[in-house]
Parts: sequence; structure tokens; C-alpha cells
Amino acid sequence: MKQFFKTSERRRYEIPSRIQELQRMEHLAKAIGKQYSLSQDQIINIAIALTETVGNAILHGNKEDPKKKVHITFWAKGDALYINVQDEGKGFDLSKIEDPTLPENIMKERGRGIFILKNLVDEVSFSFSPHGTTVHMVMRLRDKTS
Ligand SMILES: Nc1ncnc2c1ncn2[C@@H]1O[C@H](COP(=O)(O)OP(=O)(O)O)[C@@H](O)[C@H]1O
Ligand SMILES: [Mg+2]
Repeated sequence: MKQFFKTSERRRYEIPSRIQELQRMEHLAKAIGKQYSLSQDQIINIAIALTETVGNAILHGNKEDPKKKVHITFWAKGDALYINVQDEGKGFDLSKIEDPTLPENIMKERGRGIFILKNLVDEVSFSFSPHGTTVHMVMRLRDKTS
């Protein structure tokens, strides 16, 4: 059965720029899953997507600066769940992101996060502002049995 949401209120979380905070992402994904009656697979995908994007926000964006925060916002609308992860960093050049599937990159341990992310959620986009970088994610909730 297809889920359909009335536009829900936006929920916001503020995460300190410490790498230990990533341990909380699984719990947060479970809470989101409960709130929107998501499947186990959807919850796992959200947990990985949050771990990758919040990890990037803490490490690359905020550079573990304790004064800077990571802001997570999520809401549901129609058949989709929207998740934004915003940091307070200077951003980056999207055109310089390497393709981890190329032969010269295949053995590299780093540089897989954004690639994985694109396979976990239905839409990924980035926006850059003087206040920081935001990753916008959309997950369409087609079928709860998937
Ligand atoms: N929020 C961010 N702020 C600044 N740079 C970022 C951010 N997210 C990603 N990047 C840049 O994109 C690159 C690729 O990210 P990713 O695929 O997650 O690989 P990794 O984190 O392993 O380097 C990072 O190395 C970094 O240079
Ligand atoms: Mg990463």
C-alpha cells in the first residue's frame, strides 16, 4: 500500500561537531521510522544516509570545530520524506568529487560517501550559502514491503 502524508511539521535536531555523535544516527533513524511507519530497509537506508552526511558535515564542513553545529531537519509531504543536513562550513566544489568506481579510485577507502548516498535515497542535491552547506535528500515511500 502506498503511504501518503499530509505535510507534517518540520522536526529539527542540532548535533555538536563531534564524531562520536554519529553513534546516535541509528537511534534517530529508528525514531523517524517509528514516526512515519517506515520499513526496516527504509530505516537502515536513513541511518546510513544520516551517518554519511552528518559525518561529512562534522569532518569536512565544520572541521570538528566545537563552536559549529550540524542541523538536521526532516519532514514528510505527499509520498516522500525530506531530510536536510546543514553544516556551518565553507562548502566544496561538486565538480571535483571523484567517481569511486573508476579504476584509479577503486582501491581508495575515502570518497565513497556521496556515491553511496545517491544509491540510498531517491534524490540528493547540495546547496551552498555563506551560512554553510546543506545536503537535501528525498526518499519516496513507495511500498512498505520493499
Ligand atoms: N559538508 C561538506 N563540506 C565540505 N566538503 C564536503 C562536504 N561533504 C563532502 N565534502 C567533500 O566531498 C568529498 C567526498 O565526500 P565523500 O564521498 O563523503 O567521501 P569522504 O568523506 O570519504 O572523503 C570529501 O572528501 C570532501 O572534500
Ligand atoms: Mg564522507
